[in-house]
Amino acid sequence: MNARVVIVGTGGTIAGRGASAAHTATYDCSVETVDDLLDALPGARDLADIQTAQLFQTGSENFGNEELLGLARHVRALLKRDDIDGVVVTHGTDTIDETAYFLHLVVPSAKPVVVVGAMRPASALSADGPLNLYNAIVVASSAASRGKGTLVVSNDEIHSARDVVKTSTFKQEAFRSTFGPLGYVVEGRARFYRLVARRHTVESEWSIDTIQALPEVAIVYAHGGINRTVIEHMACSDVDAIVYAGTGNGNVAHELIDSLVKARARHIHIVRASRTGSGIVIRNAAQPDDRYGWIAADDQVPHKARILMMVALTGTRTTHALQEAFVTY
Ligand code: SIN
Repeated sequence: MNARVVIVGTGGTIAGRGASAAHTATYDCSVETVDDLLDALPGARDLADIQTAQLFQTGSENFGNEELLGLARHVRALLKRDDIDGVVVTHGTDTIDETAYFLHLVVPSAKPVVVVGAMRPASALSADGPLNLYNAIVVASSAASRGKGTLVVSNDEIHSARDVVKTSTFKQEAFRSTFGPLGYVVEGRARFYRLVARRHTVESEWSIDTIQALPEVAIVYAHGGINRTVIEHMACSDVDAIVYAGTGNGNVAHELIDSLVKARARHIHIVRASRTGSGIVIRNAAQPDDRYGWIAADDQVPHKARILMMVALTGTRTTHALQEAFVTY
């Protein structure tokens, strides 16, 4: 029996259309419906019994907390059904790593959830969307994908939502996981070679079933000559936490220390991350986190540290428990 898969459309370049086939980088985003994409995909309906749903039709830069919550609730409701074996979400690539990580943390199901996008619009020469979508359906239909958390499929690779980041504005090989992809999809077969060690989905302490709203977490990007204005402004706003994308090992310029300490005194959590894009921010190394009550982001890049922080803040406000989340997930 074929697997039963629902494809949930949300927009993005995978659903984009350019003025000509040569327009690979200039085009209208989020134009084609998920049914259009499926109808244009040879052999797709042989892979699985497919249903579709168009949840949003927008560029992923427009995804805010309401979109994250709405998508997670929709996916969760689908996966609760006995007649659904897996879900594919078509999504813009700009924030696909954030959305996928959110689903990875809050959708408590072992059934495969595969998030897929494209770097070229559907109308382009050598569009990558069709094969990416085909491969995503293969992965969502495969029993081997169960229990591996939310997956991102791109350019023949299967990535864990925990590790994957977008690393290019235009290249097809835009997605990278520090420790490599979990596997490949080749000619209609998903092949897995490794797993992530950190908790997710059915082992996660958080569930979209109980999350009503998400806190506000902002990111400040470090640079030479930074001044304290942005942090002072945030300290007077209603953000719940600031992720500081510091230089190197989450280093913080002298200019900012007082402002961040004052923000923490106002019950705003501070997460020290790194703008380098890889490696670990080590607790109490570049800064005395214990003294300041700050949190070290471990190996999460700032924009995914923000997702984890939002989710973790739904369950706790203690620095110790929040720090634990960064070494557990
Ligand atoms: C978007 O993220 O929606 C636009 C860019 C893309 O899908 O590649």
